[in-house]
Amino acid sequence: MIINPINRVNGELRTPPDKSISHRAIILSSISNGNNKISNFLFSKDTYMTLNAMRKLGINIETNSAAKEVYVQGKGLYDLRPASRIYCGNSATTMRLLAGLLSGQKFSSYLFGDDSLNRRPMERIKKPLTLMGANINLTDGHAPIFIRPSNLEAINYHMQIPSAQVKSSILLASLYTKGITKIQEPILTRNHTEIMLEYLNCNIGSKENEIQITNPNTLISKDIFVPGDISSAAYFIALALITDESSLIIRDVGVNKTRTHILELWKKMGGKIEIINKRNFNGEDVSDIVVKSSKLKGIVLSEEDVSLCIDEIPILAVTAAFAQGETKIYGAKELRVKESDRLYLTYTNLKNMKAHVEIDENNLSIVGGNEIFGSDIETQKDHRIAMAFTIASLRAVGSSVIKDYSSVEISYPNFYEDLNKIIEY
Ligand code: S3P
Repeated sequence: MIINPINRVNGELRTPPDKSISHRAIILSSISNGNNKISNFLFSKDTYMTLNAMRKLGINIETNSAAKEVYVQGKGLYDLRPASRIYCGNSATTMRLLAGLLSGQKFSSYLFGDDSLNRRPMERIKKPLTLMGANINLTDGHAPIFIRPSNLEAINYHMQIPSAQVKSSILLASLYTKGITKIQEPILTRNHTEIMLEYLNCNIGSKENEIQITNPNTLISKDIFVPGDISSAAYFIALALITDESSLIIRDVGVNKTRTHILELWKKMGGKIEIINKRNFNGEDVSDIVVKSSKLKGIVLSEEDVSLCIDEIPILAVTAAFAQGETKIYGAKELRVKESDRLYLTYTNLKNMKAHVEIDENNLSIVGGNEIFGSDIETQKDHRIAMAFTIASLRAVGSSVIKDYSSVEISYPNFYEDLNKIIEY
């Protein structure tokens, strides 16, 4: 994909449905006690992995992709059917959440992924699930994952790594225990699983940094609306911020507090971002976002900041290259174990574009305010790197080439079509 610089961004958009919520909607509807309609479902490569996995596990799921609707016939907690090998593709959310769900079943399971997913760390789920009594074997700390039947027990778990996938894996396994499972999170992560469980009548609550789920539970089938994905909206927000004379409205974006930290950080950098028309669907806040071109300045991010906008760090780093002064990103270790080593790719691509960037272990420093230049962009098939550096390329001097751009299908199949609706040359 060849990208040339643009002059202006203008108009109105609806970015795609939330990926995290779409995965959870399929899994939780499947183990609810009846029929569910999921509207505004994200049809993308990653979410198809979860959808197909639940079909393999015996759930009747019908789709209408044109209407963005999915119909799930939930069978309750105890009626899943054994599946042979479950392929999770590139999706760690599918693999880690299903590992929790399948640990509680009376049959064995086998989960595997593509080369990238099979390289990602899985000890982080094995550890808490084993404490619950699960019988899990990894392959050298990674997938493929073998799960054998066992009786699970409630635990009290203090999260060592901030991860919504690990937390959700424990919560799903806890549905197969009798007692009270408690999870303490020193650093907060997205809470979509907790919100959806509560919406489906599960006995779950949280105060301060502790989540408590009391079992047994029956999940009551209900209709679910999936809000727009703020992580996908972030690319457009960034582009409007760093392009002169631009303004954009993005409709129906999920603005759950555990996801909007990126907006707070951009506001701190001087970004003109307004959240309007707030509503709530099935426990999730939804709004429209208005963004205007802004004079940005550099800021400092802590490990906690990184955790609260874990998927937006590459695009935040791109905007930092357009901000006056230095942006420092500390403690970005978790970026190294995403679909690619995102810290390294963010650094090398910015460096190749002649941005003033330095890396020191897990910390990144970007001194912005100078022009950046078109370059060949290495993505290693990582969707978020492809999208972040497409945005950088639209504001660079000269042309860029995005390698393996089709990875955008993982989370945002219409990314380039949507982009074409709002850019002006
Ligand atoms: C996700 C959690 C995050 C995020 C990923 C989606 C989820 O991963 O990076 O894109 O849906 O729970 P971690 O739990 O590994 O931080």
